Parts: sequence; C-alpha cells; structure tokens
Amino acid sequence: MIAPSILSADFARLADEITAVKGKPGRGADWLHVDVMDAHFVPNLTLGLPVVQSILATTDIPVDCHLMIEKPDRWAIGYAEAGSYNVTVHVEAAEDPVMLAKNLRAAGAKAGLAIKPNTPLEPYLGVLEHYDTLLVMSVEPGFGGQKFITEVLDKVRKARTMVDTGHLNLVVEIDGGINTDTIEQAAEAGVDCFVAGSAVYAAKDPARAVEGLRGQVEALSGRGA
Ligand code: DX5
Ligand code: ZN
Repeated sequence: MIAPSILSADFARLADEITAVKGKPGRGADWLHVDVMDAHFVPNLTLGLPVVQSILATTDIPVDCHLMIEKPDRWAIGYAEAGSYNVTVHVEAAEDPVMLAKNLRAAGAKAGLAIKPNTPLEPYLGVLEHYDTLLVMSVEPGFGGQKFITEVLDKVRKARTMVDTGHLNLVVEIDGGINTDTIEQAAEAGVDCFVAGSAVYAAKDPARAVEGLRGQVEALSGRGA
C-alpha cells in the first residue's frame, strides 16, 4: 500500500491536493496519511481535529492519522470517533498504550503504534498484540523531506518475521524519506505500507508518482511488469 502524506501538500488547496493522489481505481493512494503535530512532542505544528474532520468529509480515501502529540491517551480518541480509518500514536508519548489501542478500536478505528528511529522494538512486542499497525519511523518525526535512516530496516525485518510466523497480526508501515531510491530496500525488508510525502507532492503529477512507487514494489514482488 502507498500512503501519500499531505504534509508536503499545499494546505490552501487541500481538497484538490487530496484528489490529486486518488489516481485510477486500485492504483492511487490506498491511505491518506495525515500528520498531526503539536509543537511539543515534535518541534513543529501542523493541523488538528477540525482539519481532519474536514478532510474526512471531502474524501473517501481511508485516512491514516499519525499523531505526533503529547497525551495521546487523552486526544487520540477524537480522531477515531471522527471516522479515521487508522489512528497511530507514538509509544514514546503514550501512558497506557494497551488501553489506548482498545479505546481506538472501540471507537471504530484501527489502532497504530509508531516508534521513533532510536526506539527499540523488542520492549513493545507484547503491546503490539493489541495493535493493527506498526509505524516504523525512518526519519526523526517533525518534518518532511528528510533523509531515510537505513538502520531502522532491522526493526522492519524483525516485525515482518513476527507477522509471518503468526506472533503478530499487523500492517508494517514505514514513514520518512521514502522515494524512488529508498522504497525498494524498504519493500525487501518487509514493509506493507509506504508513507511518502515529498516524493509524491513534489512531483508534477502526484497520482503518477504514487503509481511509480507502487510499480517499483510490485516489480520486486513479481507482480508487476
Ligand atoms: C514526518 C512525517 C512524515 C512526513 C514524511 O514526521 O511523519 O509523514 O510527511 O515526509 P517525507 O516522505 O518527505 O519524508
Ligand atoms: Zn507521518
């Protein structure tokens, strides 16, 4: 799956920018990745629940909220109740990630857990049994357009093995620095869902950029041309 991140979109033309990644049926954005930043958990500020509600009203692409915020135990539920498809919180910020996952699911959303590049995976394998998505950050959260941190692929490989052996049941998602140069190594490590911000929205035709990234992954897995 490809999840364009609107962080690199033109926020004054958000509805058009979302339409621009829709693409042909089955070839465009699978999820729309929405980065919520609070200027506390990360040194940047983006958008909050009212904007997410407007996004949900304007598109039928499943919305993937990535909450880079403090106190997700308090605030994440609103994004689930609003109708987001997946709501991801950071393990570094969550007080009770198991309860949080249960609350997100009870509100009708998939529950996602994000880990920063320097956060190890092992301590959270038990917690992850309650989650539907694992978001492996491949840049320090906060900004688009940063360089891919290859070392995080060890965590992807570990998660892939856990899923493939039936110990976990979740989507392995990667976020940060994904582009035509890096997507293949991420795919080989076992990523299911690729977030791409600048690689999609810096392109003249964002839907084609999505198709291009998808084509690279499909070619690797033998499904493409
Ligand atoms: C960064 C965000 C990412 C960001 C990725 O903190 O979580 O979703 O949009 O941007 P690129 O793809 O440009 O690295
Ligand atoms: Zn993100």
